[in-house]
Amino acid sequence: MQYFVTANTPSTHRTDCVITAIFEQGELSPSAMLINEQSNGYIKQIIERGDITGKTGQTLLLQDVEGVTSPRILLVGCGQQDGTTENDFNTAIIAMTKVLNESGADDATSCLSEIKVADRTTEWKTRQTVITAESTLYKYTQTKSNVKPAQQPLTKLGFFSEDSSSELATQTGQAIAEGMSLARELSNLPGNICTPTYLAEQAIELGERFERLTTTILDEAEMEELGMDSLLSVSRGSRQPAKLITMNYQGAGDERPVVLVGKGLTFDAGGISLKPSQGMDEMKYDMCGSASVFGTISAIAELNLPINVIGVVPSSENMPDGDANKPGDIVTSMAGKTIEILNTDAEGRLILCDALTYSERFNPAIVIDIATLTGAIIVALGRQATGLFSNDQGLADALLQAGNDSHDRTWQLPLWDDFQPQLDSNFADIANIGGKEAGSVTAACFLARFTEKFTWAHLDIAGTAWNSGKAKGATGRPVPLLVQYLLNRIADKS
Ligand code: BES
Ligand code: MN
Ligand code: ZN
Repeated sequence: MQYFVTANTPSTHRTDCVITAIFEQGELSPSAMLINEQSNGYIKQIIERGDITGKTGQTLLLQDVEGVTSPRILLVGCGQQDGTTENDFNTAIIAMTKVLNESGADDATSCLSEIKVADRTTEWKTRQTVITAESTLYKYTQTKSNVKPAQQPLTKLGFFSEDSSSELATQTGQAIAEGMSLARELSNLPGNICTPTYLAEQAIELGERFERLTTTILDEAEMEELGMDSLLSVSRGSRQPAKLITMNYQGAGDERPVVLVGKGLTFDAGGISLKPSQGMDEMKYDMCGSASVFGTISAIAELNLPINVIGVVPSSENMPDGDANKPGDIVTSMAGKTIEILNTDAEGRLILCDALTYSERFNPAIVIDIATLTGAIIVALGRQATGLFSNDQGLADALLQAGNDSHDRTWQLPLWDDFQPQLDSNFADIANIGGKEAGSVTAACFLARFTEKFTWAHLDIAGTAWNSGKAKGATGRPVPLLVQYLLNRIADKS
């Protein structure tokens, strides 16, 4: 979809559809008021009839309203005037997008950025409209036969605004939305298509799309050279060879980079500690961390941001094979620490520890790993918040802030030394599980042992990266959070 900004008003601009907000108790937004005046009180009259009350997400499409230049007016309910929340706004945009896409309108122009949404700026509302509209239109079709193209796809969405930041807001929103779609698409693909080799190919393609982006792939022999025995012990149980993907985006000369490390388990069967079969298909989503790295890199490259970012993706399957890791096996990580593998299903940390050690070579300013690491984080935080852990409170605060700014939120959990004894092993330097208490914390504590040399944060996205049940599908989170973090970092620098 294309986005544009016009300084015209709804009364002078010709568009297939003008979108305007109304509130509960029949209150009108400024543009709805204007249209009401032009049409001699028609909008008020409609509301009085009771066909729309202003409840969040209600819509009513009006045709040929007298006195108005555009052929359609879409009324969208936005809840209580002065009480519209970010969630209400998203609900309204989703409803708006669905109605528009099923109407005959080919271009539409929104007045919704004028309403008050918590303490958000016009720029935020415009960007959010683009992101939410694109997310609503996203449809997975790659492995379905006979998909008909949508009936009447909306091609252009505009914004009435005199605000100079609106144009940039649409561009930023579009880049984030495209990054999210890329992440969702890679994540939704099944494990038999989206293998480590497939991810590596996608990374190479991404590298070819952008001048400033260079992709390199390490194969198993090269990883062995580096001593990544922990990572390789996981992929030994699978017929698919592991890959270590590096995507280097150079947008700011020789500044130290932000390194994003994404867990890329293209299927996690649990290995010899086999998972129960119920819902096991969802373990194709165990590469959502890596997908968010792809999505974030694509967004920042699209926006040509002045920052250096390196995406590192360790990618493997976790399968039960005759040569797979066995409970009790001990492996030596690239950092030299020995690990007792007490549960082969705690494989994410086994591949991440070597990728984190590998990150040291980039002399990073910051390292952030993104991983569907623990089922326990879903118990703790549900599907709303991404779990955040960090060895630096400044970085944790920056990520919490970016979460609030983008409304793709995180919540911090402790990384205290107090938990470290849970990882003690009688036979190795460290065990790969910490018992049933505080599972997400001990997983983070495991990673912390491999990140002492740099400023690091860990995002556990097991609850936020995809939806289960009827609406099963990847969400594209935390691409908005990560892009926001990088945008804030650039703003703080200047
Ligand atoms: N990929 C899973 C985490 C996961 C589980 C994400 C369920 C989403 C839903 C991870 O590799 C794993 O299996 N973790 C184990 C750790 C345990 C063995 C200590 C878990 O969470 O059960
Ligand atoms: Mn696992
Ligand atoms: Zn896993």
